[in-house]
Amino acid sequence: MKVGVVGLGTMGAGIAQVSVTAGHETVGREVTTELAERGRATIERYLGRAVEKGRMSARDRDSALARLTLTTEIAELADCDLVIEAIVEELDAKRELFAELDRITRPGAVLATNTSALSVSEIAAATEHPERVVGMHFFNPAPVLPLVEIVRAERSSDEAVHAAYEWAAQAGKQPVKCSDTPGFIVNRILIPLLNDCVRVLDEANVSPEDLDKAMTNGAGWPLGPCALVDLVGIDVHVHASDALHAQLQEERMAPPERLVGMQAEGKLGRKSGEGFYRYG
Ligand SMILES: NC(=O)c1ccc[n+]([C@@H]2O[C@H](COP(=O)([O-])OP(=O)(O)OC[C@H]3O[C@@H](n4cnc5c(N)ncnc54)[C@H](O)[C@@H]3O)[C@@H](O)[C@H]2O)c1
Repeated sequence: MKVGVVGLGTMGAGIAQVSVTAGHETVGREVTTELAERGRATIERYLGRAVEKGRMSARDRDSALARLTLTTEIAELADCDLVIEAIVEELDAKRELFAELDRITRPGAVLATNTSALSVSEIAAATEHPERVVGMHFFNPAPVLPLVEIVRAERSSDEAVHAAYEWAAQAGKQPVKCSDTPGFIVNRILIPLLNDCVRVLDEANVSPEDLDKAMTNGAGWPLGPCALVDLVGIDVHVHASDALHAQLQEERMAPPERLVGMQAEGKLGRKSGEGFYRYG
């Protein structure tokens, strides 16, 4: 099977890594050669680490990397059986891309979006064959987290949903199917839940350390909520929260003021060296 991945940023590079590791010829498309090469370098680094840790042989790494080709030309995705899109989270950009992918790929190819918060049905509506468009929502980091939400949009065909599900399962992932509703499964539950956790910090006058201690020891969470938001990134969480709030209009979905304030101060969690905790 030949796979296309559009956008080789955080998610796309991870998805392309999953694809080449699963044995698929994979074409990665970026807007510039430099960005495409940066995506490849990320994959090389992660696979190199897997070899160092003894989780992969050097030979398997080399053959996985040999399955990856890079391009800036969308036409090079024409003979793909599955194209997974992981570009910026903007509806117009995604609709434009899907209309183009719909024109150039063969009719049986499945077109998947990795959107977190946009409507898959609205993206599919930009194509003439919406039945072959589905959501494949990976989690960050895609090579590590097993879950892939396979999203059935209003007009997705059974065949397209099945093909996406089987591809993910064959690649060693744990796919689950769901409908095209805001936040799908995990974000719909986790975002308001994490917002509640952050609000409890001020309401109950608890320190982040104690809140994490409470949820790991009292609720069996593997990671405390403050540590989790730091890991996800305060900005990523606030953005996802705003998107869910805009769609569902429930106050719990709106980002707590405390998080908005942290974002304004540049405290973005692990990646900036400081969030609820200090790092580095
Ligand atoms: N980061 C996460 O935790 C996460 C998790 C799940 C889903 N998502 C979703 O995945 C998608 C990508 O997110 P990301 O965090 O990887 O973003 P990112 O900014 O790291 O990467 C996006 C990449 O797409 C490239 N790009 C933009 N337009 C393009 C085009 N027309 N063709 C080819 N490449 C193009 C950009 O150059 C950039 O490298 C978004 O829809 C996001 O909502 C993100």
